[in-house]
Amino acid sequence: MTAVAAGLLLSLGLVAPAVPAAAADSYDIDSASSLQVVVNKHRPLDPATYVPARLVRIQSERLRSEAADAYKQLAKAAKAAGVNIVPVSGYRSYSQQASLYDSYVRQYGQATADTLAARPGFSEHQTGLTMDIGNASGVCALEACFANTPAGKWAAQNGANYGFIIRYPAGAEAVTGYTYEPWHLRFVGRDIALEMKTTGTATLEDYFELEAAPDYF
Ligand code: DAL
Ligand code: ZN
Repeated sequence: MTAVAAGLLLSLGLVAPAVPAAAADSYDIDSASSLQVVVNKHRPLDPATYVPARLVRIQSERLRSEAADAYKQLAKAAKAAGVNIVPVSGYRSYSQQASLYDSYVRQYGQATADTLAARPGFSEHQTGLTMDIGNASGVCALEACFANTPAGKWAAQNGANYGFIIRYPAGAEAVTGYTYEPWHLRFVGRDIALEMKTTGTATLEDYFELEAAPDYF
């Protein structure tokens, strides 16, 4: 059948489109406890004060067990490759996020603070599925230049194999509302992380075909 004929049948509703069901239909992106929950400036955690049922320790930080297991494997593989990745900030409670956000507001004003830190109830860190990582040396900690350090490069290249994505990539501020955070790894599971990598999908909003969320309503 020619493409034109196929298009005609499609437009007449005589055949089903040969595209997979939208990813959003295959995963629970709404429940705070879902491993695929999408949290952004339009999608606060529900409830806003959500606390994961169980958190496990990774050095001084904590993550949910699924993310912790994946993180440990990632750090182990990095170490085997000669790269020392350290956990910098994992789970943060609503009140910890409030203190962090307030300190950014005091330092930079609200408009800039909103591009750097989430308001309480709107942070992925509160899901227990996110880890900010660093180099053991501390070089470029929580700075854009982290992307060019051994830990930053290794995580960008290999994170998907362990189910992690860089949630706030460069050039996606109009979608995420946050500046580039090459250190902020979000666990979404291997299937999604690898599919995003293979298809060059930059953000979870794009992957799940959600609206851009650069600002709060
Ligand atoms: N820095 C990220 C956006 C957060 O505060 O969750
Ligand atoms: Zn972070």
